Amino acid sequence: MTALCEIRGLSVAYPGASVPALDGIDLDIRAGERLAVIGESGSGKSTLACALAGLLPDGARVEGGMRWAAGSPPRPGRDLGFVFQDPAASLNPVLTIGEQVGEGARRHLGLSRRQALSLAVEMLEKVRLPDPGKVAKAFPHQLSGGQRQRVAIAAALAAKPGMLIADEATSALDMVVQAEIVALLDDLVRAAGMTLLFITHDIALASGFADRVAIFRKGALVETGPTRTVLAAPAAAYTKTLIASHRDLATPPLIHEAAP
Ligand SMILES: Nc1ncnc2c1ncn2[C@@H]1O[C@H](COP(=O)(O)OP(=O)(O)O)[C@@H](O)[C@H]1O
Ligand SMILES: [Mg+2]
Repeated sequence: MTALCEIRGLSVAYPGASVPALDGIDLDIRAGERLAVIGESGSGKSTLACALAGLLPDGARVEGGMRWAAGSPPRPGRDLGFVFQDPAASLNPVLTIGEQVGEGARRHLGLSRRQALSLAVEMLEKVRLPDPGKVAKAFPHQLSGGQRQRVAIAAALAAKPGMLIADEATSALDMVVQAEIVALLDDLVRAAGMTLLFITHDIALASGFADRVAIFRKGALVETGPTRTVLAAPAAAYTKTLIASHRDLATPPLIHEAAP
């Protein structure tokens, strides 16, 4: 697999912060892979996502950087989709689900209102919401947390981006729904040949489906490698600690067999 993005020596410091949020990160993101970025809260995962999307706040000091195979960075909302932890925060309470799911695609692909709505229904079906036509007419508060996260995924994928960043996208959900959403994400990105950056604090969740893992701690990349290799023989003491804290990781619950 060729690198979609080569991150080299990337450091990010927020204004007024005494320590950098990211400190000299070297990491390749390969086209079509499912890469899990794993680390505890504050380890710099979301900062990495923002840097990739060109969405760091003004005043953030950036050193090093990234090279995209496409020659230019992906346009958020068009080439790069996002799903966040809290779908309620990214959904507008006074707009119907259908309007919101089709909105990005309408803007980026120049669709008419009617075309955007029909795309929205198609996307709601893709994320396996029952009765997508009815869901399209509903408002966010009428759905459960898991359903809202499916809506957020539908919205993120509507413009058919080549890459998706899911930042703690399932962390607010209970375990059963979490597993369903992860399986759905995995299916959708595989079917579309998309690249997935799956950000999580949960190594057990990520190791169930990610091709590779990148372990972050305090702004540094601790180690990276194929999921099975890292789980079977972690190089860093920190990774060993992470794995040891999950008893069930001895036999990772693989959703799909990893490609050889
Ligand atoms: N907008 C910001 N301004 C200042 N500091 C920030 C900002 N966003 C994150 N940080 C700090 O940067 C560090 C990394 O944060 P973050 O990337 O959000 O970590 P994670 O997503 O792994 O929890 C933390 O110490 C956090 O407090
Ligand atoms: Mg975060």
